[in-house]
Amino acid sequence: MTFSARTRFELDESALSRTLADARRAGAADLTESNPTRCGLASPEAVALLGHPRGAGYSPDPMGEAGAREAIAGDLTRRGHVVDPSRVILSASTSEAYGWLFKLLADPGDAVLVPQPSYPLFEWLARLEGVRLVPYPLVREENFRLDVGAIAPLVDDRTRAILLVHPNNPTGTFVRRADAEALEALCEARGLSLVVDEVFADYPHGALREDRLPSFVGRRRVPTFVLSGLSKVLALPQLKLGWTIVDGPEAQVRDALARLELIADTYLSVSTPVQRALPELLALRDEVQGRLRARLAENLRAIDAACAGSPVRRLPSDGGWTAILEGPLTREDTAWVELLAAEASVLVQPGWFYDLDREGFLVVSLLPDPATFAPAIARAVARIAAG
Ligand SMILES: Cc1ncc(COP(=O)(O)O)c(C=O)c1O
Repeated sequence: MTFSARTRFELDESALSRTLADARRAGAADLTESNPTRCGLASPEAVALLGHPRGAGYSPDPMGEAGAREAIAGDLTRRGHVVDPSRVILSASTSEAYGWLFKLLADPGDAVLVPQPSYPLFEWLARLEGVRLVPYPLVREENFRLDVGAIAPLVDDRTRAILLVHPNNPTGTFVRRADAEALEALCEARGLSLVVDEVFADYPHGALREDRLPSFVGRRRVPTFVLSGLSKVLALPQLKLGWTIVDGPEAQVRDALARLELIADTYLSVSTPVQRALPELLALRDEVQGRLRARLAENLRAIDAACAGSPVRRLPSDGGWTAILEGPLTREDTAWVELLAAEASVLVQPGWFYDLDREGFLVVSLLPDPATFAPAIARAVARIAAG
């Protein structure tokens, strides 16, 4: 048997994963945990909505059932982002939507530009579609600002799209309005699409600054695909429902939707019960997000309290579910992770996991229960400060 080159994965567990797994088993506080259902944030009342008999029928629509698409469009429109339901396409997850967009936009060997640092799944998603990733740097010194001047030289005749995580994971940066416009001008000039992952867009830390763009939904200048889903919007990753909002010049949107419909028809991957429960699920948005925002804010306060007067600092962030700690450069990030597991009984992620451009950064999830999080972050910061 021969396997495809795209599945030539490194299958051995790394030494770091082994260390973390051992420490986890030994009871270390896990500040890498980003699964809300393991952080006391599950919503059993939401999951119960899937048991309704309305889910017993099956009349598949590749784009998603009308009621579900209307629920998403209505929810966005009520919050100021006017969306027509015909521009909404459902998938089982945001990750699946990336795969569909790569199939739609790129041939094998074509390139998409991706932010660095960012979400580590891109490498796999692109590889599985035969698409080449070209990283573009974000300006660390300016809170990881998107710099179109650094992106433009990376575009060549095989480039098909620019990806954006908005706000970025793990930096929490929302794009400045002026940078969004410059980016769209570049896309227009070079015939590129924009793929914008807004799974964390509902989680700014407090009021978003006026110069930041809250969302790319409704922008029309270039073909724009905005992704989100229940995984983060309702903290329900297990429901497996994501969506893509397609915007841009009319004729291009029409063509893109027609092709996406065929791609989606090939899989029909979204379950009926979740689609039919969606209007009721989205009605829980404020309650779920209120709980989550309180959790994020409390854990941010715990980090800031732990860092006060110490050489460790939390990088400023506009929003999202993660925080980045900057510590002294006296050890490599992996060595810090191992040391914190062994000596402080705390698990964190090394910055390189998200492609941060230098050592000195550790990443923590803001989701764990504050009763665990606060003492753990205090121990971690004290240990890092001790050198
Ligand atoms: C930036 C970003 N996009 C997408 C996802 C995955 O979302 P989904 O569960 O919808 O595939 C994650 C998960 O952590 C994420 O961090």
